[in-house]
Amino acid sequence: MNGYFRSDLQSKSPSVVKIEHKRRMMCLNENCLDPHQAIKESFLQRLESVSLNRYHSPVTAELRAKLAEYAQVEPQNLIWANGADDILFHSFLAARENENSFALSLAPSYFDFETFCDMVGMGIRFQHLNSDFSFDADEYLEKASHPDCKVAVLCNPNNPTGNLFPHSQLRHIVENLPNKLVLIDETYFEFSQASFASELHKHPNLLLVRSFSKAFSGSGLRFGYALSSAENIHELSKVFITFHSSLLSQAFALSILENKELFLDQVQRIILERDKIFEGLNELPKLKVQPSHTNFLAFSAGEKTPELYQHLLDNEIAVRDVSGLPKLKDHLRATVSCTDDNEAFLEAVGAWAQR
Ligand SMILES: Cc1ncc(COP(=O)(O)O)c(C=O)c1O
Repeated sequence: MNGYFRSDLQSKSPSVVKIEHKRRMMCLNENCLDPHQAIKESFLQRLESVSLNRYHSPVTAELRAKLAEYAQVEPQNLIWANGADDILFHSFLAARENENSFALSLAPSYFDFETFCDMVGMGIRFQHLNSDFSFDADEYLEKASHPDCKVAVLCNPNNPTGNLFPHSQLRHIVENLPNKLVLIDETYFEFSQASFASELHKHPNLLLVRSFSKAFSGSGLRFGYALSSAENIHELSKVFITFHSSLLSQAFALSILENKELFLDQVQRIILERDKIFEGLNELPKLKVQPSHTNFLAFSAGEKTPELYQHLLDNEIAVRDVSGLPKLKDHLRATVSCTDDNEAFLEAVGAWAQR
C-alpha cells in the first residue's frame, strides 16, 4: 500500500483462481476437447492470411460477419473481447456512474461478478436464491429499482447451481426495468439452448454475454462477446482500448466458427455424458445431485462432503469446492469432461459411497 493507486483498492486482493492441479481437471468448467488439435489445419491455413506486423486485418470483418451469423444478429449488434470476463468487466466499467453505483446479482451466481465490480469501483448487492435455486422476481425488481443500481445481472443457466431460470420470469424482469441495463450472462447457452438473442430488438436495455470457453473449447483462447442494440454496443465500445483483441485470437475464433459443427457435436456428447453422471450420482443414496443445463453438476454428500472432496483429490480428480456459497453448503461442482475422466469420477465416487 503506497498511495499511488485508488484508495478503495487497498482492501482488495488480486484475482487469483485457487484450484488443485490433478490429472483429471474437472473444476473449471473447461472442455476436454483441445481445439488446436481439433482444427489445427484450418487454423494454420487461416494464419497464412493474417499479417501480425499490422494492426488491421481482413480477419476482423470476416469474424464479425461469421459471429453475427452464428448468434443470429446483425454485425453491429456485437462486440468481442478477451473472454466473457473481459466483456463483464467493460460492461461494469461503462455502466458505473459514481461511487454509489452498484450492480445487483443473484447469489450464489458467477463469483467474478463481484470481482469485476470491485475492479471498476462499483458496489454489488445480492439477492439470495431460494433453496430450490428459484428466486422471487418481484423482490429482484424492487432491489434493482434503486436509482444507484446501474446493472441488473442474471446468469442463465446459472453458475454454480446449473439451473435455468424460466424464460418468462427473466422477460418479466427485462420488461419491468426499461431504464436499467439488464445483463444476462449466457456463457453456458449452448448447453441449454435458452437465449434472449432473438428478443434483443424488443428490449433496448438488454445486454447478453457469451463465451467461447465452454462449448467452443477455448478457455485459454480468451474470447467472449456481447450482443445488444447497436446503440448499446457503440456506448460499450467507448471503454474498450483500440486494438483490444489479438489478431491471433480473432483468427482462431474464426476457425472455430468455420468448424462449429465439430464443437457443437462435442456439446451434444457432453450433454449425454452429463446425463450419465447425473444418473450415476442420483443412484447413490449418500449423494444429492442437482439437475443441470450446463457442462457441470453441483452435488452434495451432506456433512461428509469434505471427505468426498479429499477422496477425489486422492484419486487425481480435481472438482470445485463451492460449499462456502449461499444455498450450496456442503456442495461440490464437477465439470463434465471426456468419457475417460467421467468414468473415473463415477467410479471414485461410487467406491467412496460404498465405504
Ligand atoms: C457464468 C460465467 N461467466 C463468465 C465466465 C468467464 O468466461 P470466459 O472464460 O469467456 O472469460 C465463466 C467461466 O467460468 C462463467 O461461468
